[in-house]
Amino acid sequence: MIGPLSLAVVLFLPSGSLLRAPGPHELCRLALILLTLLAALGLGAQLRRERDTRRKTEQRLLEFLATAGHELRTPLTAISGYIQLARMGGLADPEKFDLAMSRMADETRRMLALLDELALLTGIDLGQPLRREPVNLARLCRDAVADARACSPHHPIQLTILPGNHSITGDRDRLYQAVANLLANVRHHTPKGTLTAVGLGTEDGYRVIEVVDDGPGIPAELRGSAFERFVHGRQATAARVTDHDAGGGNGLGLSVVAAIVTAHGGRVTIESAYRGAWFRIRLPA
Ligand SMILES: Nc1ncnc2c1ncn2[C@@H]1O[C@H](COP(=O)(O)OP(=O)(O)O)[C@@H](O)[C@H]1O
Ligand SMILES: [Mg+2]
Repeated sequence: MIGPLSLAVVLFLPSGSLLRAPGPHELCRLALILLTLLAALGLGAQLRRERDTRRKTEQRLLEFLATAGHELRTPLTAISGYIQLARMGGLADPEKFDLAMSRMADETRRMLALLDELALLTGIDLGQPLRREPVNLARLCRDAVADARACSPHHPIQLTILPGNHSITGDRDRLYQAVANLLANVRHHTPKGTLTAVGLGTEDGYRVIEVVDDGPGIPAELRGSAFERFVHGRQATAARVTDHDAGGGNGLGLSVVAAIVTAHGGRVTIESAYRGAWFRIRLPA
């Protein structure tokens, strides 16, 4: 195959000796060759960059599939264990039967929640459009806080809505999910009695929603990666067994928040707090 360099030599040599001073015609040819060379080198670098990006994307996708499969395996293993037990007559006692049923219901709920989150993340990755409707963020925050209070009366929540316009255009259900995930995390990852403050206001043309709690805070080792998929702290495994509302313990909650907020053109950050966790969502007004 003729590479860019040999192409230059072939094009340049036939017009005579290299020792002779080049005429204007040859200079033009030389300039053309150099331009061809530069373009070929630039194209090569771009192709290499594209290939690297494609490889990284494929690698991420494979890791995502492997982890998702593993996460689904855990509840399925538990359910098939209870089925085995029932077949062997181990659930004849009504109390054991009820316990097995409620554990199977929990695991089924967990799988459905995981599948919902995976569907949402892949939908956003594939660029599926979100709904674009008028959303009243004040009402959304009120609903999310009321629902969270109903889920855990042991986690008091204080809501502050600053005066002003709180409407944006977006996908109401997804935005609700983002706020609900942050509030669910307080229930799952902080002790009873932890106080949460939810605030809504406007800053520099952005609607800002803050969820701040006075619990133990995001573990230091997770601070840089908390919004990545399947990243969770050690206690999350305990939440997996004990919580009864959806979406706990698989490490997708914060990545779902980030995906939803980013798809709305906004940004979610973890702010430095003296204690507890402080999340800040900024959405273009
Ligand atoms: N309010 C919070 N307080 C303390 N730790 C938190 C809080 N929110 C999130 N975390 C930490 O961030 C991790 C990732 O959260 P998330 O993505 O929602 O996954 P999951 O809740 O399924 O574990 C959690 O496992 C937990 O360690
Ligand atoms: Mg969570």
